[in-house]
Amino acid sequence: MEFVSTLCLFTFISFTLLLIHSIFKFLAFTSKKLPLPPGTLGLPYIGETFQLYSQNPNVFFASKVKKYGSIFKTYILGCPCVMMSSPEAAKQVLVTRANLFKPTFPASKERMLGKQAIFFHQGDYHSKLRKLVLQAFKPDSIRNIIPDIESIAITSLESFEGRLINTYQEMKTYTFNVALISIFGKDEFLYREELKKCYYILEKGYNSMPINLPGTLFNKAMKARKELAKIVAKIISTRREMKIDHSDLLGSFMGDKEGLTDEQIADNVIGVIFAARDTTASVLTWILKYLGENPSVLQAVTEEQENIMRTKEVNGEEKF
Ligand code: HEM
Repeated sequence: MEFVSTLCLFTFISFTLLLIHSIFKFLAFTSKKLPLPPGTLGLPYIGETFQLYSQNPNVFFASKVKKYGSIFKTYILGCPCVMMSSPEAAKQVLVTRANLFKPTFPASKERMLGKQAIFFHQGDYHSKLRKLVLQAFKPDSIRNIIPDIESIAITSLESFEGRLINTYQEMKTYTFNVALISIFGKDEFLYREELKKCYYILEKGYNSMPINLPGTLFNKAMKARKELAKIVAKIISTRREMKIDHSDLLGSFMGDKEGLTDEQIADNVIGVIFAARDTTASVLTWILKYLGENPSVLQAVTEEQENIMRTKEVNGEEKF
């Protein structure tokens, strides 16, 4: 009983300190005389978190952009934020003035993707992971999976026949299948459906209100995340028993000389699916839109590809 009341007291004090810290952070942000962009911060600590999560996030962004323009301030998940939606601003953050920025994520996102994922680190561990990821996507490493990627593309195209499609959704399915083959190689066939099921639940909860109570989307996503880590661990253990080297991303992570733990590997596998999927699907969607709207460009691109294939045939080179 005494233990329970000490625990309650401890929880109460921790929560109060956290709240006080957040209110101070909030007040410090609001009282700074910096030239902050327009926008509202909502309530202390809570900020505009409920407005963002109680509706489709796109509606929140669209209404803010309409009201304040492409750069606005807000307060989400306990973090003061400046949100931006213009290519010029993105270039400043990612390229021209990248030295002024450091990537950080709200704690709930970090927990969901996995604390050991590349995005949340700097220094030696970060450089090591970067090298391992790049290693797995070099032409020599991906050459043997190109026929599988081609087959995924052909199957997708055939499945579009005679039906109206949502291009972005179809591109997401395509990029997910390509991500799985790039990460797990042929091993993915066995686990594809399980991986897909868990990842889709994770994706659905990723942008939900981070309340980890039974039944919430967040809670389901956290459970699915654990399941994903278990599947990755299963594949790792089978590979260790078979003692065969693989040139895919999992093989690259497993081949690290100092040895990554299973947890580090799982966090980074999930992280790469996350980094690669929506980004590539979005670019592919824009490419399809512009090719569809510009038949002369489509024809030029088609001719370019056909020429490459003809030249390879004439020179007796491999198709890929
Ligand atoms: C057109 C598609 C893509 C876009 C627009 C894109 C965009 C980005 C951006 C903006 C960052 C953050 C960079 C920074 O913080 O400086 C990033 C990081 C990252 N992306 Fe991509 N990405 C794309 C495709 C991919 C793919 C296919 C992979 C699969 C390997 C990938 C893996 C990563 C990784 C591992 C990081 C973290 C890098 C680090 O922390 O050093 N991305 N990406």
